[in-house]
Amino acid sequence: MRLLVCGGAGFIGSNFVRLRLLQHGDEITVLDKLTYAGREENFHDLVDHPGFRFIRGAIEDPDAVAEAIAAAAPEAIVNFAAETHVDRSIAEPDAFVTTHALGTYVLLEAARQHQLRYLQVSTDEVYGSIEQGTFTEDSPLRPSSPYSATKTGADLLVLSYFHTYDLPAVICRGSNNYGPYQYPEKLIPLMVLNALHGDRLPVYGDGQQVRNWIHVLDFARAIAHVLQHGVPGEVYNAGGPDECVNLDVVTRILELTGADASLIEHVTDRPGHDRRYSLSSQKVRALGWEPQVRFQEGLDETVAWYRENAWWWQPIRSGDYREYYQRQYGLGLAES
Ligand code: NAD
Ligand code: TYD
Repeated sequence: MRLLVCGGAGFIGSNFVRLRLLQHGDEITVLDKLTYAGREENFHDLVDHPGFRFIRGAIEDPDAVAEAIAAAAPEAIVNFAAETHVDRSIAEPDAFVTTHALGTYVLLEAARQHQLRYLQVSTDEVYGSIEQGTFTEDSPLRPSSPYSATKTGADLLVLSYFHTYDLPAVICRGSNNYGPYQYPEKLIPLMVLNALHGDRLPVYGDGQQVRNWIHVLDFARAIAHVLQHGVPGEVYNAGGPDECVNLDVVTRILELTGADASLIEHVTDRPGHDRRYSLSSQKVRALGWEPQVRFQEGLDETVAWYRENAWWWQPIRSGDYREYYQRQYGLGLAES
């Protein structure tokens, strides 16, 4: 397939691009603004591939989108581009509204004009928190944070383009992803890097919140599957095979890094913190997808990846991330 992948310089987008380019022979143009989370290092090994092209630009900029479509002549747009950290959405929601509402609108207009298939990458957080049971695609949308609320708005806009203009659009909602190339503001890489440096491990509240972890390559495979086999106008959940309590994730990271449990520090809880996410993936499983990586083995491999790839995270830990960390946690970080 010839794809325009928006947000392909981020964590999940770059893993998706690597998988599709190297293993499936897709031709891929990445359009990405390169925010703090988007990095050329994420596709360092792909730049010389003949099927790969990178254009720097924002999805809310119609000229950048037009340029990318002219260069890519894509059959479909896959939109990963987003602001993705809940804590940042609480502190500074502006960019979340711009990218998710306006950016998604500009992409949908372009898809409509050029009659392209469209896949919106979305999240289980649009359903809100669930103490028992699992969310299906028919569960009510009850987002809690500015991040999830603006992602929900984007999803509804996508569905409106299907209903109103017959745009062949689908949505794939993933649960919490983990794996290589994830920016260290998120739970797993943050805890791994802090543990490796002897920094404190800031656990929000009682640490008993539950997340449904999916390996990034399993999610990338689900997205490709939905793009190929999904029915236009439909939503598909893609959840991981395992749920885990946050404190258990952190404890396993301590074991794998050999760090001491005394590094754990319970800090003030996140406002509006969703207690548990749990996703039923029956609908996409019926299309033939299933997750391949269990959390225990995937987490071990992920910790090993961060250990072995200091070249990737060292510039992050020594750059703006330090200031973000100080602002967010009121704590400093050790020098790398
Ligand atoms: P990320 O923060 O690592 O990457 C986001 C990418 O989007 C970056 O490369 C950034 O530069 C780019 N971007 C941001 N705003 C842009 C704009 N206005 N125009 C163009 N590019 C822009 O995020 P991620 O974890 O890879 O998430 C990708 C997608 O998957 C998002 O839509 C997110 O909501 C969704 N998702 C993430 C998770 C998760 O656990 N990380 C789970 C489910 C769904
Ligand atoms: P995060 O990786 O931010 O993903 P999300 O909020 O989208 O699920 O957080 C995962 C869980 O880890 C969530 O319950 C919040 C918790 N958490 C901490 O306890 N400490 C931290 O420093 C971070 C970043 C997250």
